[in-house]
Amino acid sequence: MSNDELAQIVDTSDEWIYSHTGIRYRHIADQGVAASDLAVEAARAALQGAGVEAGQIDLILLATSTPDYPGLPATACIVQDRLEAVNAAAMDLVAACTGFVYGLQTARAFIESGSADTVLLIGSEVYSQIINWKDRNSCVLFGDGAGAAVIAAGQTAAGSRIIDGALYSRGQGAEALARLTGGSRNPLAADQPTTPGCYLSMDGRRVYNFAVAAIVETIQTLLQRNGLSFDDIDWVVPHQANVRIIDAAARRAGFDPARFYTNIAEYANTSAASIPIALDEMSRNGAIARGQTVITVGFGSGLTYGGNLIVW
Ligand code: ACO
Repeated sequence: MSNDELAQIVDTSDEWIYSHTGIRYRHIADQGVAASDLAVEAARAALQGAGVEAGQIDLILLATSTPDYPGLPATACIVQDRLEAVNAAAMDLVAACTGFVYGLQTARAFIESGSADTVLLIGSEVYSQIINWKDRNSCVLFGDGAGAAVIAAGQTAAGSRIIDGALYSRGQGAEALARLTGGSRNPLAADQPTTPGCYLSMDGRRVYNFAVAAIVETIQTLLQRNGLSFDDIDWVVPHQANVRIIDAAARRAGFDPARFYTNIAEYANTSAASIPIALDEMSRNGAIARGQTVITVGFGSGLTYGGNLIVW
């Protein structure tokens, strides 16, 4: 869906959206397509790419804030069944746009502790079903998508590994980016299926300020903790929320913005799916090579933020 198509639904324009966010397009799932449907497709592609059979998976982690069902069952279990991953435990991970970053660190912990050998991590989101299409402040920002990765114990020739991860939460900002109705705090009345609180609500300015600081802190922490300088990093793969957030963070910390990968123009903000979609795209278009050092950095509802230091 282009910005021009969106401008036929709400009072906005391609010029405003592009100049304020860097977004040109977003992909919208067909009606009836849920997070598990996109997740299964991404998972199958990742398993095939890794040469791993579904039966080898010990744990499925599904990062999503748009699950098939509210609360239960875990969408990861629906994916487990569809993949016939008969030996896998399955659980959802709710850290919004930081979900993939939280998931990589969780996968690393399971593998390093010996609790799992092979983890399937998926970020899958269908925000088109939870955004208020009448609210131009938020509906222009999001898109649907999924990405997946297989993380396994063992050695590769390029020395691929997850070196470190830094995870943070700032719950005092819980309502800055939230879906307030439908949980146990504000249960949905049976005769009120579409109160405004059913949809995502956002304090855009507050999220913006938080996000810029979160990117800088995360990258600096991962560099310092591992005795690295920014010159040692080949790529930063940030959560794709807004190019202005990414540029402002790079400027504030004096990091070369050219080393921050962005593809938000095509996909908008796909929340937990944005980092794996970017990594997959980079791998396919040759931007990233085996053995390169990458920092991922995510930030989002919770508020949550964090990053991973990886050798690709
Ligand atoms: N089209 C046209 N005008 C718009 C639109 C739109 N889509 N949206 C807002 N405006 C208007 C506002 O009404 C306002 O008009 P006013 O001054 O007459 O009141 C004006 O544009 C400026 O609004 P601001 O909010 O100041 O615009 P800003 O430059 O801050 O950009 C934005 C808004 C893009 C939302 C920015 O604040 C931002 O990127 N925030 C972070 C949001 C984000 O990334 N959220 C997701 C985080 S990740 C997750 O966990 C889901």
